Amino acid sequence: MPARAAFHPGEARGRRAAASPEAVSTREDFDTRASASIYVRAAGLMPGGVSSPVRAMRSIGRSHPIFVERGSGFELIDVDGHRYVDWVCSWGPLILGHAHPSVVEAVQDAAAKGTSFGAPTEAEVELASEISQRVPSVEMVRLVNSGTEAAMSAVRLARAATGRDKVVKFAGAYHGHVDGLLAAAGSGLATQGIPASPGVTASAAEDTIVVPWNDPAALGTALEAEPVAAVLCEPIPANMGVVPAARGFLELLRELVDANG
Ligand SMILES: Cc1ncc(COP(=O)(O)O)c(C=O)c1O
Repeated sequence: MPARAAFHPGEARGRRAAASPEAVSTREDFDTRASASIYVRAAGLMPGGVSSPVRAMRSIGRSHPIFVERGSGFELIDVDGHRYVDWVCSWGPLILGHAHPSVVEAVQDAAAKGTSFGAPTEAEVELASEISQRVPSVEMVRLVNSGTEAAMSAVRLARAATGRDKVVKFAGAYHGHVDGLLAAAGSGLATQGIPASPGVTASAAEDTIVVPWNDPAALGTALEAEPVAAVLCEPIPANMGVVPAARGFLELLRELVDANG
């Protein structure tokens, strides 16, 4: 499949634009020239050439991401025509696979009636009802556009409900790019967060306590030290590699947060 990227001279303005498709594709063990070509264009237009850092695929050793052309059932097909079994499923939500005919039909029907109104629709209420029926812990639903907004809203709600400022998160866990959760661990068992990214202020990170994952002692220390509004965790942390909770760790977490109020 030929490279699809059409270059516009003004597009090469990004300071970190990749040099050329050849330069970015030399380390790959199969032909991804069309992806490399699109990446060169993307790197001049979008920071890092992607809309979310993980999509750069650097953590899996790639010099450029694979650009997806389409998905079908359990497969992804990239712009070079390679087919992949999709174990990622859009990082979780794509439980019905790609382009299931019923889903496509429902989306087409909805789109034909208009796509955005800035006013409530009954369909939202139906969706909220479906979600709360299927997820026992979900009593009410606020629909948002991204995981970042969901985590940000949950933290704000927890702070408002408890009157407490501090939150605990686990080292290596990712909860979106909200300032207060882009905190890195310092040294020690449980540490005040330090900004994990330029642009995050020290004050935005200081209410975040960072605790090592799977460390009951550190968790206990953090929760004893001061009252916290919330503990955020990925029950199966995927953003530090898939590191399952040690036996009993999630149960202990539930026990400690209940005791902490
Ligand atoms: C556990 C978790 N929370 C939040 C987010 C942020 O989601 P979004 O990129 O939709 O803002 C991610 C994204 O990778 C995530 O894995």
